Amino acid sequence: MRTLVQSGHCNKLASTIARRHGPLTAVIDNFMVCTHLMTPAVLEFLAARRSVKPDNLSGPGPTDAELLKILTTGARVPDHKKLAPWRFIVFQGGARASAGEVFAKACLAEEKEPPSPVRLETERQRFQRAPLVIAVVSNVKPKPGAPEWEQVLSAGALCYNVCLTANALGFATNWITEWIAYSPAVKTAFGLADSERFAGFLYVGRASEIPADRDRPVIADIVQRWPDGPVPATAGR
Ligand SMILES: Cc1cc2nc3c(=O)[nH]c(=O)nc-3n(C[C@H](O)[C@H](O)[C@H](O)COP(=O)(O)O)c2cc1C
Repeated sequence: MRTLVQSGHCNKLASTIARRHGPLTAVIDNFMVCTHLMTPAVLEFLAARRSVKPDNLSGPGPTDAELLKILTTGARVPDHKKLAPWRFIVFQGGARASAGEVFAKACLAEEKEPPSPVRLETERQRFQRAPLVIAVVSNVKPKPGAPEWEQVLSAGALCYNVCLTANALGFATNWITEWIAYSPAVKTAFGLADSERFAGFLYVGRASEIPADRDRPVIADIVQRWPDGPVPATAGR
C-alpha cells in the first residue's frame, strides 16, 4: 500500500488525507506500527515473559548479527533529552574467563574472611554460566537536561528492553546484579568512571530448563483509581 502511494497511484486521496492528517505515507506507517503492536502474539509474548537463571543458560549464544540486533533494538528506549545515559560492555568467549579473574581478585581484596578455593572457583566461573553477558552501565550525564532519576530509569528500561529483544530472538535471559555490581574493585577493573554504576548484568543463552512461573502482584493491590469528581478531602494529607 505504501508503495502504491509513493508511486503516485492515489494522488487525489493522498492529498485529501494530507490536508487533514499529514502525509499519507506517515499515516500508513503509523497504522502499521499500531496494528503490529496490537497483535495477540506480542501480548502473549509479554504475558509469558520469564527470567531463566544463569545456571540454566547454555550455548550457542547469539551470532554477531543477532548481538547487534539485541543491542540496537535494546537501546531503543525512552530517554528524556536524548542523553543516552548508558553504555554496554559485552563479554563472550574467553572474555568471560578473564572477567572471572577480576571477580576472584576483587573477592580476595574485599571479603573480610579469606575466601575458600570453592568460592574463588565460583567467582572465576561467574560469567561462564551463559554464552553471553552484557553489562549495562548507567552513565548519568553531569549537566543533565533531564534529572538524574530519569536517566537512571532509562538505564533500567534499557536492561529490560535488551532482555525482551533477546527473548524475541529465542534466547532466554536474566537481569541480575549480585555482589559484583557493587564492588569498587570490579568497577575499577572494568573502567567505570566515578559517576557510573552497573545497572545490571544481562545473561543471555538457550534455556536448558524453563522455570515454573512465580507469583505476580495482584493488580487490585497495586492500583488506585483516582475518583472522577471533586478532589477527595484526604488528598494532599
Ligand atoms: C536491578 C535488578 C537486579 C536484580 N538482581 C538480581 C540478583 O542479583 N539475583 C537474583 O536472583 N535476581 C535479581 N533480580 C531479579 C531477576 O531479574 C528476576 O526478575 C527474577 O529472577 C524473577 O524472574 P522474572 O523476571 O521471571 O519475574 C534483579 C532484578 C533487577 C530489576
